[in-house]
Amino acid sequence: MRPEIPPSLIEEVRAARALVVLTGAGVSKESGIPTFRDALVGLWAKFDPEELATPEAFERDPAMVARWYDERRVKVAECRPNPGHLALADLERRILGQGGRFTLLTQNVDRLHQAAGSRRVVELHGALRVWRCSRCGEEREESGGPFAEYPPRCGCGGARRPGVVWFGEVLPRRAVDEAEAAVRDCDLFLSIGTSALVHPAAGLLHEARGRGASTAEINPERTPASDLVDWRVEGQSGEVLPDLVARAFPDPPPVENGPGRRTHPGRQVPP
Ligand code: APR
Repeated sequence: MRPEIPPSLIEEVRAARALVVLTGAGVSKESGIPTFRDALVGLWAKFDPEELATPEAFERDPAMVARWYDERRVKVAECRPNPGHLALADLERRILGQGGRFTLLTQNVDRLHQAAGSRRVVELHGALRVWRCSRCGEEREESGGPFAEYPPRCGCGGARRPGVVWFGEVLPRRAVDEAEAAVRDCDLFLSIGTSALVHPAAGLLHEARGRGASTAEINPERTPASDLVDWRVEGQSGEVLPDLVARAFPDPPPVENGPGRRTHPGRQVPP
């Protein structure tokens, strides 16, 4: 059965002037990306996330931690955006097309939102494919196969580490500032596919709500946010989001005619 989407939520999405979306691991589930815990199988089954995802773990055993993240990086590179990612990219175009603002805050490190075409994406927990030298700080994007050595080395000789936020680390300052600025003046906040447990990302919904924004959650399971939001849609994001966007914006999407020129199919463009 198709998940029920309240008509008032559809209306709110259509009318949004400043929309903030927060996504978590659930949004990538339908792309086949295992959550951190789900990925601890086979050789890795004996580890706790805390043994792999902390600065102390990397200090203790940089080769092992780098190998774990590199395996994940290579696996994730084979995954494709699902209809939920694509609907969010479409939603951004629709909101921008009517002169509104749109910010996508993600806790995911897989870059699937960008692969789907989302433009304004704030990565709160970094990205798997960015590796940073633990000595000189140089960052590089990796798109090839597995590294030849673990940990990979920087030109300066330092060990390179994955550019993700580990337990106990602070979030990137710039991402937090951008997230807070977007939340400060949004009129609608959607929390999608996140357990809404991990702070500070989880606190953003409280902040938006405290400032008077409407709030909604899309998740097949209940979370600590479920009792706070104005609307809850119980379903998978890959199913709910395409339906929500299609019903909020039933017209065909604007056609992009190169930089700065957007038209609707069949509509006359002034020179
Ligand atoms: N559509 C939407 N939501 C889904 C789907 C789906 N198809 N499948 C599962 N979910 C929901 C689950 O019900 C759960 O509430 O996605 C949520 C995933 O929760 P977590 O695995 O805790 O992921 P997340 O909230 O992103 O975790 C935050 O914690 O492990 C750290 O740094 C890691 O970024 C991660 C952070």
